[in-house]
Amino acid sequence: MLDHYIDRQTPMANTLSNPIITTRGLRKSYDRKTEILKGIDITIRQGERVALIGSNGCGKSTLLRCLIGLHEVTAGEVTALGETFTGLPAGAQKARLRRQTGFVFQKHCLVRRRSVLSNVIHGMMSEPGRWRAFSQMTAPEPWRHAALEALSWVNLTDKAAARADALSGGQQQRVSIARALVRRPALLIADEPAASLDPVSGNDVMALFARLCADHGITLLFTSHDMAHARSFADRIVALRAGRVLFDKPAATTTDADLDEVFRVEPR
Ligand SMILES: Nc1ncnc2c1ncn2[C@@H]1O[C@H](COP(=O)(O)OP(=O)(O)O)[C@@H](O)[C@H]1O
Ligand SMILES: [Mg+2]
Repeated sequence: MLDHYIDRQTPMANTLSNPIITTRGLRKSYDRKTEILKGIDITIRQGERVALIGSNGCGKSTLLRCLIGLHEVTAGEVTALGETFTGLPAGAQKARLRRQTGFVFQKHCLVRRRSVLSNVIHGMMSEPGRWRAFSQMTAPEPWRHAALEALSWVNLTDKAAARADALSGGQQQRVSIARALVRRPALLIADEPAASLDPVSGNDVMALFARLCADHGITLLFTSHDMAHARSFADRIVALRAGRVLFDKPAATTTDADLDEVFRVEPR
């Protein structure tokens, strides 16, 4: 049932295509005691689908946030979507980064009482004239059009007028995918997007991500604690352990032994 979503014909991203994200010696501490990320060097290229894995609390969400300037980098340098920064990106850089990035989180964060269409239009909030994105009533026609098109990508056109909280968990997560895609971002960042869904809806949502990103040439970086998702829906897996990159390799050649090492518990 899920297989028709999975585009198995999609070639691996061309390793010669442009880098979308590069980090050099990225370090991050929230306080003086603990360093969460201890020098991360990664490159993610245009059109790649990359899974970031690692044990709970190892710094996956922290890394995602550092890459797009939501958290300050303690040391090292990030280049994302053509913007190079240390610390935090400057105001104009941050705005450009936001405009080119779509986000999907574990909790979908929809406005429950608003229509599905209004929620997707909210994805236009980082555009100039943002107040117009508060409701489908004030949104300009091209934004409504873009929102309806994004809803068609996630097969929810018939739910456009429904209240967001009338949808199932899986459908609500699909609405948040449409909201993330409405501005046609170059990069989609998804932090545990399937974690709060039942297994079937979770698989559906991941398959939809993988297919939409392939169809629209969007680079996808997602975190997951589900190794089946990482293996099936990413081209490449980046594993973090103890603040460093343990491995960075094609999903197809990642072995069970590799994964055992990621989650190995140190003897006390
Ligand atoms: N805003 C924050 N302030 C202080 N510590 C934080 C903050 N966010 C995360 N941490 C800590 O950083 C570590 C890594 O967290 P996180 O990036 O959320 O890990 P993961 O996403 O891999 O589970 C954890 O120990 C967490 O408690
Ligand atoms: Mg996390």
